[in-house]
Order: sequence, then C-alpha cells, then structure tokens
Amino acid sequence: MIKLSQRLQAIADFVPQGSRVADVGTDHGFLPCYLAQTGQAVQAFACDINAQPLALARKNVADYQVAHIVGTRLGNGLAVIEPGEVDVVTIAGMGGSLMIEILDAAPLVVDKLKRIILQPNVGAEAVRVWAEKNRWHIVQEELVRENDRFSVIIAMEPGRNLQAMTPVELFLGPDLLKKQHPLLGLYISEEWDKTQRVLAQLAQSDSEESRHKEKMLQRKWEDINGVIKCRLGVSLS
Ligand SMILES: C[S@@+](CC[C@H](N)C(=O)[O-])C[C@H]1O[C@@H](n2cnc3c(N)ncnc32)[C@H](O)[C@@H]1O
Repeated sequence: MIKLSQRLQAIADFVPQGSRVADVGTDHGFLPCYLAQTGQAVQAFACDINAQPLALARKNVADYQVAHIVGTRLGNGLAVIEPGEVDVVTIAGMGGSLMIEILDAAPLVVDKLKRIILQPNVGAEAVRVWAEKNRWHIVQEELVRENDRFSVIIAMEPGRNLQAMTPVELFLGPDLLKKQHPLLGLYISEEWDKTQRVLAQLAQSDSEESRHKEKMLQRKWEDINGVIKCRLGVSLS
C-alpha cells in the first residue's frame, strides 16, 4: 500500500468507498493509485495539463499495478472528463483561484458530482465563497501541518447551507471552527503574523486605498478575535 503524505492522506480520507474519482493536477498520481488500492475508487482518472507529470503518473499506475482502475488523461482541468463520468473530483496543491477557474469552466461535469474535495495552497476563503455562491455546502474540513506548512482540506457536497457562512467562518472554515480543531489556534496566529506584515507595509503608503485596506483588515481581525475568544478561548496578542 502506498504511504501517502499527511496532506494527501487527509484528502484520501474524505473520498467515500466505491467512488469514481477524477484527480485534477495529479502530478505523480499517488492519490488515485492509493484510492484504487484501498477500494475507495472503483474507477479513477489521473488528470494533468502537462505531459511530464502525467508520464510520472502513468509510471506509478503501472508500478502499483492499478491500471485496471486508474486511467490517465492529458488536458486542462475537467475538460478531459465527460459529464457523469465521475462522482468525486479532487484538486490539490494549487491556488484556490485556479481551482475555481477549473470548476467554473466545466459546469456540466460539476453539476453531476456528488462531492468535491479541494486542498488550496492559498485562497481557502475564496474556495468557501465559491461553494456558497454555487450552492455547495461544506461537509468536512481538515487542517494538516507538515514540514512547517499548513494545508487546509475542504470537502463539499451539492446543496445550499441552511445558514449562510459568517465572514469568520469563510476565513477559518466552518467545520474547523465547529470541531475546534486542535491546530486552529496555531493556524490563526500564523495568519495574524502574515496580516501584521501586510499592515506594516500598508502603513508605509500614503494612499487612500491603503488606509481603506488597513481599516478593512483591522475590522476583519476584530471579528475574528471576538469569535475565537468566545469559541476557542484563544486571544491574539
Ligand atoms: C503542485 S502539483 C500538485 C500535485 C498533487 N495534486 C499534489 O497535491 O501533490 C500541481 C499540478 O497541477 C498541474 N496543473 C496545473 N494547472 C492545471 C490545469 N489547469 N489542469 C490540470 N492540471 C493542472 C500541474 O501540471 C502540476 O502537475
């Protein structure tokens, strides 16, 4: 059995048994190969826009002897998948805005999906905003820290949230907040450090736009501080 990184394992854990899966931007193809080995995927497609990573995926599919389950497809995003061909799409290790572009470019494929699992390197908030706007609700989230780096994993299914997500939920993740994820405190403090660096840069500019951005960020963090004090018992210094 392939030993996945913690990040890829967390993504795999969100794939239901017996799924038909497309892994977009697969690179090495470890995720679909693993899903074939565990039976979570009864059919899978390792998809990539670049020939070189896809060749690596093809080699891994052969080495792990899962070619009867995992096919490889070369092309942009979900253009290589027919509507109804898969029930689950996984996209990991790229920016949230590219993930959104890929999903928006294939509405007929997305319409037929039962679950989308995303691990954006940046832009998790934009992914959650996309989910809400496009009537997907977040069913599970995970936060992983590996090699001093956080990864957020978001699983969504079709259907609106009963209640719209609050700005703080959009930023931190409704499920991570709900289950008071043990890494959330550290995640928030790293995000706060990043924000302080942005605020320091903004303070050096005289423009109205910078003052506006400063105000927006300060307001956002006042809200976050209020919520985390009350829900996690954490306070920012
Ligand atoms: C950093 S790797 C991530 C690999 C793997 N998903 C992971 O998380 O370990 C990103 C991969 O996405 C592929 N990629 C980038 N844009 C893409 C697109 N529009 N459609 C399909 N694949 C894409 C790249 O060629 C690359 O192999």
